[in-house]
Amino acid sequence: MSPTPNLSAVLDHIETELPQDLSRLMDLLRIPSISTDPAHAADCDSAADWLVAELQSLGATAAKHPTPGHPMVVGHLPGDGPRMLFYGHYDVQPVDPLDLWDKPPFEPELQDTPKGQVIRGRGACDDKGQLLTFVNACRAWLAHHDSLPIEVVFFFEGEEESGSPSLIPFLEANKDLLKADLALICDTGLFDDRAPSIITSLRGLAGIEITLTGADRDLHSGAFGGPAANPIRILSQILAGLHDETGRVTLPGFYDGAPVISDEQLASWEALGFDAKGFLGDVDLSELAGEAGYSALEMLWSRPTCEFNGITGGYTGAGFKTVLPSQASAKVSFRLVGQQDPHAILASLRSYVEAALPPDVTVEFTDHGAGPASHMAMTHPAFDLAREALTEEWEVPAAFTGAGGSIPVAGYFQTILGLDSLLAGFGKSDDGLHSPNEKYDVESFRKGTRSWARFLAKLAET
Ligand code: BES
Ligand code: ZN
Repeated sequence: MSPTPNLSAVLDHIETELPQDLSRLMDLLRIPSISTDPAHAADCDSAADWLVAELQSLGATAAKHPTPGHPMVVGHLPGDGPRMLFYGHYDVQPVDPLDLWDKPPFEPELQDTPKGQVIRGRGACDDKGQLLTFVNACRAWLAHHDSLPIEVVFFFEGEEESGSPSLIPFLEANKDLLKADLALICDTGLFDDRAPSIITSLRGLAGIEITLTGADRDLHSGAFGGPAANPIRILSQILAGLHDETGRVTLPGFYDGAPVISDEQLASWEALGFDAKGFLGDVDLSELAGEAGYSALEMLWSRPTCEFNGITGGYTGAGFKTVLPSQASAKVSFRLVGQQDPHAILASLRSYVEAALPPDVTVEFTDHGAGPASHMAMTHPAFDLAREALTEEWEVPAAFTGAGGSIPVAGYFQTILGLDSLLAGFGKSDDGLHSPNEKYDVESFRKGTRSWARFLAKLAET
């Protein structure tokens, strides 16, 4: 390690190399690594190969590790300091509805917009652009120093967007390979689109699909309507009963383990000056929905939810059909906080639905994952160093915040590897994650890379 880190040379290097860094991101974005679609398995494999080559070009040892699903990529760069595990995911969400994309999703391009230049393409933000910010920072650092101030284990997954089926067994089987002092994750966003943010808690997630069946076939709604049970009507009543008029979830035991937030915590969130009107206004809404009596940030970071993500049944095609359907189904998810137990909540939901069924109507449940909320201990000194580094780069104080979304791997790092995660990312609310026309601001890519370089410099100085 050089005695004094040469941060300004590294930052200059990042500026000079920006066109090459962007061009490598475009190469990765051209690979349609949609993990949920078996037709794209070979593409997921190519994205993993691409990352192995990328890490090797940094001087890292790196290899693809097969799993029953898509491969994991693990790389290693030696360094003079604590060992940190950098996690990202190379898989992306499906692109449909394709007709809502202005350009083909896997033909990325740089576009000028009124808010600045953006990289447009599926995965630009989630998570290919974000994961490369850290890789690029390491590359720039090594161009001006003999070694990194930390030892890095790179860990890239290819199944994050499809529920990480291979993750737990892989972590269990590779504890030594992945051993570290702290995990770093770049898969989150800026606070209020302006302030860098270190996420210290993530909501948990539990998902379930409920399918009700009545008659053994679809029926004529005149010939049978009245005497025959209608599964859509029953399902609607069941779903409507899950919230009371104040927006509270009615399931017995649902709030067990949900914490009461202290006045100091609430005051610190208040002090962040979150623009709830603007947040809603961006998506053409104006009034807070949800639980009465809570602010937007409280709801996002400290309150659990029960949401309906999809509902089907009967005739949904063009025109009209007087059908009394045999089946109706709903996909229901819970975002969880504190110590709420996802399995207890799913069990409570099952009992509630079963108790509400009239004669002749049966139910089938399909589980779609269950993970608790995670909270970072923040005892590692890197949290404060990251806060300083981010504040210097963005010239706005970095905030320690919660997040409404879920990153289950952060919880598994805690329970399986005993690792806290430092979550810092540079996405913006209009990046269109999981949506058509996904983008990542060139500013996020550039300043994200510079942020990690500053973080390395802080670590080198300690
Ligand atoms: N990058 C997101 C999570 C995220 C988004 C965290 C915004 C914080 C702010 C991640 O890729 C994601 O979408 N996670 C899923 C969970 C997964 C199990 C499908 C989510 O939160 O719905
Ligand atoms: Zn993601």
